[in-house]
Amino acid sequence: MKNFITTQNWSRSELQDIINFSIELKKNPYQPLLKNKSVALLFLNPSMRTKTSFEIGISELSGTAVLLQPGKDAWSIEFEENIVMDGETEEHVKEVAQVLSSYCDCIAIRAFPKFINWNQERGDSVINSFAKYSTVPVVNMETIEHPCQELAHILTMQEHYGDLQGKNYLLTWTYHPKPLNTAVANSSLLIASKFGMNVKLLCPSEEYHLDDRYINAAKENCSLENTDFEISYDIKSAYSNADIVYAKSWGSLSYYGKPDEQASLNSKYKHFIVDESKMSLTNNAVFSHCLPLRRNVKATDEVMDADYCLAVNEAANRKHVQKSMLTKIL
Ligand code: CP
Repeated sequence: MKNFITTQNWSRSELQDIINFSIELKKNPYQPLLKNKSVALLFLNPSMRTKTSFEIGISELSGTAVLLQPGKDAWSIEFEENIVMDGETEEHVKEVAQVLSSYCDCIAIRAFPKFINWNQERGDSVINSFAKYSTVPVVNMETIEHPCQELAHILTMQEHYGDLQGKNYLLTWTYHPKPLNTAVANSSLLIASKFGMNVKLLCPSEEYHLDDRYINAAKENCSLENTDFEISYDIKSAYSNADIVYAKSWGSLSYYGKPDEQASLNSKYKHFIVDESKMSLTNNAVFSHCLPLRRNVKATDEVMDADYCLAVNEAANRKHVQKSMLTKIL
C-alpha cells in the first residue's frame, strides 16, 4: 500500500509513469478503472479545482467519491493524542480513519496549517494521523505540500517544452494581503528540482525563505540531477533567462502567527507582482500559477491573458493526473 502524501518518496520515473498515463486518460477519459472503488474526499478548507477535479475524475473512471467537510456536514475531528475531548471536537481521527477505511478504498484530505505555530504545524499532523490509522492509501489534496498540483504542473510544462532537463525555473514570491500557505511553493521547489531543472527561488528578503526541509530537499534533488539551486532577492537577475516563471504568495515563516505584522511586511513588496516588463527579461518564458489568483495583485491582466500563461491548462490537467495517480495507488 502506497500513500500519495509527498512526491519526495516517489522516484522521478514513478512520477513520470503517472504523468505518461495521464496523457492516455486525457485522450480517453472514460474508462472503468475505478469500478467498485470508492474514495472519501475530506475537505477541512475551501476548494474549487481540487473538489471538482477529484469528484468528476473519479466518476469518469466509474468510481464513487464521497465529499465530507468535517465540522460542517460531518462531525468535527480531534487529532491530538491522549486528550480529554471536552471541547469542540466530536470524534477522534483513530475512529474516523478506521471507519472510513472500512467503507472506502482511499482517503484523500485537504488540511491547511492553522497559521499559529509553524514548529508544530510543519509536522503535518492531520494527514499523518490519517496515514497512521487508515488501512487504505491516503492522498494529500493540500496540506503543507500540494503533490497533485505538482503532477499537473509538470504535465503542463512537459506539454509545452517536452524534456525539462536543464530548463531554468523561477519560483517567485508575489504579494497578497493575507499570509498564505507555503504548500504550493514548497511543492514547486520539490518537483522542479526532481525533474532536472535549474531552480531559482526569488524572495523579497530572508524572512520569506521557505522551511529548510524544502530548501534542503531541493538542493539535494538538484545535486543528484547536476543542476543549480539558488536563492535570489534581485528581481531583474532572477527573471533573466528563465524558461518557466511560477508565482505564489506565501506568509513569512519569521512572522508566522502574527497576521497584522505579516500584512504590514507583505505590503512593502507589492512590486513583486508578475507583469509584462518582468516577463520580457526572460527567455520567452511560460508563466503559471496554481490558482486561485487575485488579478492585478499577484499578476497583471496582461500576463494572465497572454498566450504564455498556462495557469488554466495546469488547472485542467489536475483532473487527468489525479485520475492516473488514483489508478496507480488503487
Ligand atoms: N489549486 C488548487 O488546489 O485550487 P483549489 O484551492 O480551488 O482546490
